[in-house]
Order: sequence, then C-alpha cells, then structure tokens
Amino acid sequence: MTAEIISGKDVAQTIRDELGEEVAELKRKHGIVPGLCTVLVGEDPASVSYVTAKGRACEKLGMNSFHHELPAETGEEDLLKLVDELNRNDEVHGILVQLPLPKHIDENKVLYAIDPDKDVDGFHPVNVGRLVIGEELFPPCTPAGIQELIVRSGTPTEGAEVVVVGRSNIVGKPIAIMMLQKKAGANATVTVCHTRTRDMPVHTRRGDILIVAAGKRNAVTAEMVKPGATVIDVGVNRIGFTASGKAKLVGDVDFEAVKEVAGKITPVPGGVGPMTITMLLKNTVRAAKRGL
Ligand code: GUN
Repeated sequence: MTAEIISGKDVAQTIRDELGEEVAELKRKHGIVPGLCTVLVGEDPASVSYVTAKGRACEKLGMNSFHHELPAETGEEDLLKLVDELNRNDEVHGILVQLPLPKHIDENKVLYAIDPDKDVDGFHPVNVGRLVIGEELFPPCTPAGIQELIVRSGTPTEGAEVVVVGRSNIVGKPIAIMMLQKKAGANATVTVCHTRTRDMPVHTRRGDILIVAAGKRNAVTAEMVKPGATVIDVGVNRIGFTASGKAKLVGDVDFEAVKEVAGKITPVPGGVGPMTITMLLKNTVRAAKRGL
C-alpha cells in the first residue's frame, strides 16, 4: 500500500489560521502587533527568497514585518550595532539574522548578540540550554515544524523508536532532544545517525519515525525504511530546472520508492518547508505575548 502523504502545506495553513486569530486578539485586547525584523547581509539568491517569504507570511497574518538589507561587505561591528538597536526597539519582538553570513563575519558572535528573549530562531545558547532542560521558550523552527507534523499526522510518539539521520545544530541535535523530552508529542526512544555511523540501515530500519536531515539526495532508500514507518524528509536539494525555469527541489529521501514502504511520508516541496516559516511566526507571536 502506498503511504499517506503528510501535507505540510495544509498543516501549516491550519496553524497560520490559528495564529491569525491570536494576532487579531492581541491587537484588539492589548493593542500589541507582533513584529519580526529580518536582517539580510549580501544577496545570496536562496537567502533573498527565504527572507522575502518570511516577511510576506508576517504581513498576511496582520503582523509587522521589518527588514534590513546590508551590502555583503558590511563589517561585523556595523552588524552588531544594528542588532543592538533592534534589541532595544520595542516594536521588534523577534529578530532573525539570515544565515549564512559572509565569511568575514563571525556568525556566532552575531547570533550571541541577539537578546535571547527576541531570538525567534532559537539559536542563542541560552535558548539551546532552555530547550535541553525542557523549559523551551523558542524551539528552533524546523525541528518544531517536524514535531507538529508528526503529532498532527496522528503518529504516536510515546515509547516509539525515533531515528534521526543528521546531527546539525539546526535540525538533527535539537529534534533528537525534543523527541526525547518527558512531554506529550515526545517521550520517544531516540537514535541519532551521522556520517560516521556504522551500518546505517540497521538503525534506520528500527525507526517507527524516521527523520532525515542528511543534506544529501537519496540518503535514505526503500530498504532502509521499516514498513509502515512515518518518514519526515527535511532535505532541500536543488537539481536542475523545471520546464518553467524554476530550480527543481528534491529531499534526502528516495520519495518514489520509499512511499511504497512507509506508512506516512512528507513530500519535498510541500512538507517540512512550509512548517518552518509557520513556526517562526508562532515564536514571534509568543515573543510579543511575553510582555503581557
Ligand atoms: N538560513 C537557512 N535557514 C535558516 C533559519 O532557519 N534561520 C536563519 N536565521 N537563517 C537560516
């Protein structure tokens, strides 16, 4: 039997509708309009398109969207000065400095300069610490989106074997920690595989839930998947172009073959992608509510 396709697009829309109501209520009852400020240094096309999408999504929900675009040669000091200004601007509830930054700027120095209470990316060490001890304020957006997809697709997590492929700071490590917590939507037994893992299929085949963030096309093939598993594909690989001239996107999972084995699977595009921005909006609304 072919797997059920988990539409991130549909789940994201449901959550955005819920958030839209929260935003309207914040405005009506408290006169607060949640505001997100994005900062882009340079003109990397993928970054430009992500940042544009983030701003549009804010505006659609009735939130404020601020944006700073700086030339690629901007110095670290100037960027830190801007972050400091945004930290002190009461209209800005969330700050997002789009990564990657140009090589001459110390990325960590910039991320650590963001007020942890405005760090809607959840990348600041204070927020990473909060996440690890189960007191999260801003769960990082992609892992938060993955967890929502798992839960809202009706996949049980309690006692489930969750296998994560990939150990990045942005996806692999945080999602492993989140699925491990003693909480609803988690409570799983978690295994993390990576580039030095011996005999990867032995691990992946045990996963009731398989989360793939390997950064490599076809990293997971059909023989590596437990029949009936829920497979979450976090990969974004651009391969050639479609007829309309747009880059064609594929994930890290061999979708066509794996969908014949899995119970549920997320597509690329239209799976995890739309969830990431939605969770950013959710964190921004949360940041705006902190002052209440
Ligand atoms: N670049 C690619 N993904 C992200 C993200 O989630 N946050 C930031 N700040 N930069 C990114």
